[in-house]
Amino acid sequence: MHIASSLLAILLASIGCVSSANGASQYAPKQPPLTTPWTDEVGTNPWPEYPRPQLQRSEWKNLNGIWRYENATSLQSVQQPPFGKHLSQEVLVPSCLESALSGIQGQYMLNSWFSTSFTVPKSWEKQRVLLNFGAVDYEATVFINGRKAGFHRGGYFHFTVDGTSHVSFDRENELLVFVHDPTDNGDSVIPIGKQTLHPSHIFYTPCSGIWQSVWVESAPANHITQLDIDANMHGEVSATVHSSQKSGTPVEVAVHERNSGEVVAYHQARSPHLYNVTVRMGADHVRSYTGFRSISKGMVDGVVRPLVNGEFQFLFGPLDQGYWPDGLYTAPNREAMVYDLKVLKKLGFNMVRKHVKIEPALFYQACDEMGFLVIQDMPALRQKAPNAKQQAEFSRQLELMVKQLKNYPSIMTWVIYNEGWGQLIDGYPEFGLTKHVKEIDPTRLVDSTSGWYDHGAGDFSDNHHYANPQCGTPFYSLDSSPYDPSRIGFQGEFGGLGSNVSINHLWNVQEAIDTIDQTYEIDESLAAWNYRSHILLGELEDQIRRFACSGGVWTQTTDVEGEVNGLLTYDRRLLRVDEMQWRADIMKLYDAGAARSHTYMPAF
Ligand SMILES: *[C@@H]1O[C@H](CO)[C@@H](O)[C@H](O)[C@H]1NC(C)=O
Ligand SMILES: *[C@@H]1O[C@H](CO)[C@@H](O)[C@H](O)[C@H]1NC(C)=O
Ligand SMILES: *[C@@H]1O[C@H](CO)[C@@H](O)[C@H](O)[C@H]1NC(C)=O
Repeated sequence: MHIASSLLAILLASIGCVSSANGASQYAPKQPPLTTPWTDEVGTNPWPEYPRPQLQRSEWKNLNGIWRYENATSLQSVQQPPFGKHLSQEVLVPSCLESALSGIQGQYMLNSWFSTSFTVPKSWEKQRVLLNFGAVDYEATVFINGRKAGFHRGGYFHFTVDGTSHVSFDRENELLVFVHDPTDNGDSVIPIGKQTLHPSHIFYTPCSGIWQSVWVESAPANHITQLDIDANMHGEVSATVHSSQKSGTPVEVAVHERNSGEVVAYHQARSPHLYNVTVRMGADHVRSYTGFRSISKGMVDGVVRPLVNGEFQFLFGPLDQGYWPDGLYTAPNREAMVYDLKVLKKLGFNMVRKHVKIEPALFYQACDEMGFLVIQDMPALRQKAPNAKQQAEFSRQLELMVKQLKNYPSIMTWVIYNEGWGQLIDGYPEFGLTKHVKEIDPTRLVDSTSGWYDHGAGDFSDNHHYANPQCGTPFYSLDSSPYDPSRIGFQGEFGGLGSNVSINHLWNVQEAIDTIDQTYEIDESLAAWNYRSHILLGELEDQIRRFACSGGVWTQTTDVEGEVNGLLTYDRRLLRVDEMQWRADIMKLYDAGAARSHTYMPAF
């Protein structure tokens, strides 16, 4: 048996050699444990869209596509970059190295080299050449033409490397990226969300490498690096334009109607009405957009409520994790990513809780355009107490998240901790972190601790309970805290009803299948699943009518690996819900909220 399998390995290796005469393996996606309807559409030019809709420049080149890849032996490898070397394998960018779509589908991708080459048009010669990365998990060291050009730490954040002094305008430029991603290896305690090197039930396969778009663009020496636009319900727009150089260059900001292009000075609109924005600063000219929206909290009939444009509307959203069986963190394409949102919209959800992951900019743009509100979680540390240095890095990355996303009108609330993961209990750091988040972004609410260890910080009294809700109720289970009437009563998670439909819709990995029995509740048929969801949504409605429940999060949008409790299966091929029944049940939640919001006092 043993001999036979090694013979087979040798045979396969020699077939591999024949098919690539030049000794380099060619890119082909691997077989994922489960496909989606978009797996075969990915091709070799993924994510062609301009990746940064809130700071768009016209002169750009997409660098997504087939790059070269090689495993590096250690973190020290970064000291010996393989300049000019043909790395041994091909890889799809963007992708997670652990995903089938990457063409690698590896494990323990702790240290990696990526390389590609690119040209820059002669016409950019007098400009800065900016190399942009949507996100690289976890650390990236960037080399251009044999010289180090930049470094970035943090797996969920965009960053820009100014390549001007490194690039040539008349030949191919070599781009080499060293990626280090420990995930939860050894003593590493870093923001990882649900990623783990040892997947089991609610923790999943990790994502390493360049998992969002890479592009190069030209901009003048003094260019806009960030736009912070705040447009409120009174029609007031305030814009902060960050520039690459200190200068007194005047800035022009214009807000336009999306369709007619007419410049609007004042407009009071209910969401989801968006406006195009153009900004000129000297020679730099960028396009963006905004929406007029104010988020606050206030007393409505004696209950503290979240307010959107001054009004209480019940918030109902799914726990939305953004995992894909073929691409893991990287959706196969934009259409797939938006498909999830379309399903939610059709069922009547008005919010999504983006769970311990940060998505590409195009996701938030889609939320803005479709009129969703977003409750955004900080990607959690593993379930282990961080030391002082790790805590400081968590806090730094929390700040990066708020700065990166606060410009999207859809964002309404920041979540700092989920169910105590990586939450230090000594000294209650969530109070300091909440204060810090509110300083960076005073226009949103903060849910400091979603579930479990609540010491009174932030705007929410957030209960997690499966399967039935305990939302702003005078009863609670002992693993959560009692409802605190000085804050917003909220059900940060409930539902989680499982249904093991068939092997055709399962992530076909035995270790994952073996954890299905850890599901809170299994319903034996879709009829039973819909019956149970109707009961649970009815309980939530009752709690809105009787108690102080302002919003709820249903677990979850899709199945993920060994979890079978999605509205959709992991492959997005089966929608478990009885659409008529769910739409009606969700409408009743909003009606129950409306019945509690006849009068209100201004926000405090
Ligand atoms: C890649 O290198 C690491 C050391 O950084 C090693 O542990 C691992 O086995 C290697 N993986 C592959 C697929 O060669
Ligand atoms: C508004 O911006 C969108 C996205 O960039 C663009 O498609 C549309 O044409 C713009 N509208 C106007 C009137 O310029
Ligand atoms: C779920 O279904 C799979 C495939 O049919 C089966 O192997 C597994 O035992 C089932 N698990 C549970 C808990 O029902």
